[in-house]
Amino acid sequence: MRDVIVVVGSINTDLVVKSERIPKPGENICGKGFSMVPGGKGANQAVAARRLGTEVYMLGCVGRDLFGDFLIRNLEKCGVSTSFVKRADDYFTGTALIVVEEDTGINTIVVDPGANMALKVEDLSVLQGVFEKASVALFQLEVPTEVVIEGSKMAKEKGVVTILDAGPPRGMVLSALEHFDIVSPNIHELASLTGFTVNNVDQAKEASLFLIERGVPKVVVKMGEQGALLVEGQKATHCAAFPVEAVDATAAGDAFTAALALSVAQGKSMRDSVIYANAAGAYAVTVFGAQLSMPTVEDVQGILSRKGGECFEL
Ligand code: RIB
Repeated sequence: MRDVIVVVGSINTDLVVKSERIPKPGENICGKGFSMVPGGKGANQAVAARRLGTEVYMLGCVGRDLFGDFLIRNLEKCGVSTSFVKRADDYFTGTALIVVEEDTGINTIVVDPGANMALKVEDLSVLQGVFEKASVALFQLEVPTEVVIEGSKMAKEKGVVTILDAGPPRGMVLSALEHFDIVSPNIHELASLTGFTVNNVDQAKEASLFLIERGVPKVVVKMGEQGALLVEGQKATHCAAFPVEAVDATAAGDAFTAALALSVAQGKSMRDSVIYANAAGAYAVTVFGAQLSMPTVEDVQGILSRKGGECFEL
């Protein structure tokens, strides 16, 4: 087995304020504590995959600022290989401003991508050798779209399975999704990609079939408390969520996607991989912070041993 995962994606500093509730537009409310923690969908997924026990290489870009130093040091501390992380001269490191509602763990996020957008298609060439030994390559949409599409094409030429976490979908052309083996949006991203209304499992199935008709081989929809939906060809399977006490939903989707990638890399079935991913996502919701909440194998096993997570064909 080629036990390596490659992540091409964003690296951000998350500036997080806990709050009694999410403020309305124009409103000024008092926060309940500030934290600066490592984030970015790409880096979160890299750390999660590493914590779940695989070798991880990350291609990304940070600025030549103190935040960039902090984030590279953190990735190294987590055991992610950073030899392909670039430093850009004229950009600040990507920053996410996050408000987390104290009682529900619901969040709002504004990301200024900064140096993440300085990643170029030419930068992918350093991955040629790593793709030879990788089983899965993970992409998200917080770096330039052309890098993500070309990266997937390059990985697939080397026999690597490619997964696109379709968040955030701004600027992603529907026709480009066919370049990935698995596309995994949350319900908001699926709605934005397809123009469909997606609030429940039936609507998620309808919108996923629309993607399948447009050449996407497999769709895995992250549905939070509603679990996850797997659509392969015309076959749809819904897996229920594992009930947990929500603390912070930030990066739960990243834990899910990384666990899905790891399980696929280990040769597990798509159905078993979605159950594993559901458990990883559920764990992440119970801990504050993005990378701080990425689970270990034992954490995922702990969630799997609880009730929940049953799958049914629709
Ligand atoms: O998926 C969560 C991540 O989205 C946060 O860590 C933040 O950096 C944004 O990129």
